[in-house]
Amino acid sequence: MADKTASLTLGEKSYDYGLLSGSVGPDVVDIRKLYAQTGAFTYDPGFTSTASCESAITYIDGDQGILLHRGYPIDQLAENSTFMEVAHLLIHGELPKKDELDTFTYTITRHTMLHEQLIQFYRGFRRDAHPMAIMCGVVGALSAFYHDSTDITDPKQRMIASHRLIAKMPTIAAMAYKYSIGQPFMLPQNNLSYTGNFLRMTFGVPAEPYEVNPIVEQAMRTIFILHADHEQNASTSTVRLAGSSGANPFACIAAGIACLWGPAHGGANEAALNMLREIGTPDRIPEYIARAKDKEDPFRLMGFGHRVYKNYDPRAKVMQKIAADVLDQLDIDDPVFDVARELERIALHDEYFIEKKLYPNVDFYSGVVLSAIGFPTSMFTALFALARTVGWVAQWNEMISDPDQKIGRPRQLYTGPTQRDYVPVDKR
Ligand code: ACO
Repeated sequence: MADKTASLTLGEKSYDYGLLSGSVGPDVVDIRKLYAQTGAFTYDPGFTSTASCESAITYIDGDQGILLHRGYPIDQLAENSTFMEVAHLLIHGELPKKDELDTFTYTITRHTMLHEQLIQFYRGFRRDAHPMAIMCGVVGALSAFYHDSTDITDPKQRMIASHRLIAKMPTIAAMAYKYSIGQPFMLPQNNLSYTGNFLRMTFGVPAEPYEVNPIVEQAMRTIFILHADHEQNASTSTVRLAGSSGANPFACIAAGIACLWGPAHGGANEAALNMLREIGTPDRIPEYIARAKDKEDPFRLMGFGHRVYKNYDPRAKVMQKIAADVLDQLDIDDPVFDVARELERIALHDEYFIEKKLYPNVDFYSGVVLSAIGFPTSMFTALFALARTVGWVAQWNEMISDPDQKIGRPRQLYTGPTQRDYVPVDKR
């Protein structure tokens, strides 16, 4: 039993439950024996008060607006690190030494190509298919091509699958884009960085050499780092839940992609930019603020609010700076950025948003940057999926390696009919 306990009284009886302490953050009440002892479940739709697992990867303090990966603050990683370093950190727990980084980068770079037959899959999609629909399908299909890395009981195979997923995701996403605009697929080029290679596969054409713009490469790298992991968010929990049954890693990541697609999660960057464009000019902001506050109107300010952050999302701070830098350095005058900044200013001074602690999240400014780089809005969530794959595989590996891991199987509060007898159709 832990040092501290929590007591629960149910009817006449009282029960004690241990409080578990992490390295930092709130204690958790260990209720694993609750049902066996009391016959009662806990009720927590949306998991607002539930720690679903133990994890040593990412820590968020939502009140302070702090995000740490393996202890390192996100702003320091965004400022100083490469995406490969962050990937190594998330998966292996430490920033790599020089030789470790070289080996890791080499390995990822050598897994970037897709099986030739898999490339044929793309032709089966409509040209106007959403890239996320293609991502779900193609990533799920990886399990049909890479059988030698689907035995999840073998740590070596798990690592090969992880490397494959991180390496192939840029190729898969870039091909989804190329297919949608009817341009030939660009094959990976190993002398480029992870980000540079992705940019070339997306924006390059076989007819001429492609020069990676260092400003764009730097911005893209930072965006990938900002999206790499985020604790037990909806898509990561989906990956863990899918993986808890023993499903192969490619199927699990496809499940994560499906979850990320929703506008309340990764789809918010697309929705945020669409909203800013719809607002169009700063003078229309009050109308949208009023709609967001109106209980009868389902409209929400996209890119605002977060389940965990009740303060400024630290990623949004970095993203706002990247937006300013990229627009400035690429000499782009985008009125949408002015709308975004003004909307943020007005919302942060509005009683409704202050009281509900609604601040810009990472998606608020990312659309402005991605649009300036040249991505269509439909690609935004696909880029998020690409970067988040690192977090997904890190969390999936952590779960599979946990000796206490068991299938995730929540219970429910049943409110349907009690038992009744079947009635033949002519008697209903
Ligand atoms: N605009 C207006 N009001 C909002 C917003 C918003 N963006 N977000 C929350 N609220 C209000 C809700 O109406 C609710 O008000 P009430 O208490 O009067 O009913 C209150 O704030 C709490 O909102 P919940 O939906 O209960 O908070 P929850 O933690 O479940 O939702 C979420 C978080 C989904 C992110 C929400 O803030 C939202 O829908 N934001 C817009 C979508 C978005 O930007 N998603 C990206 C999240 S970050 C990411 O996935 C990378």
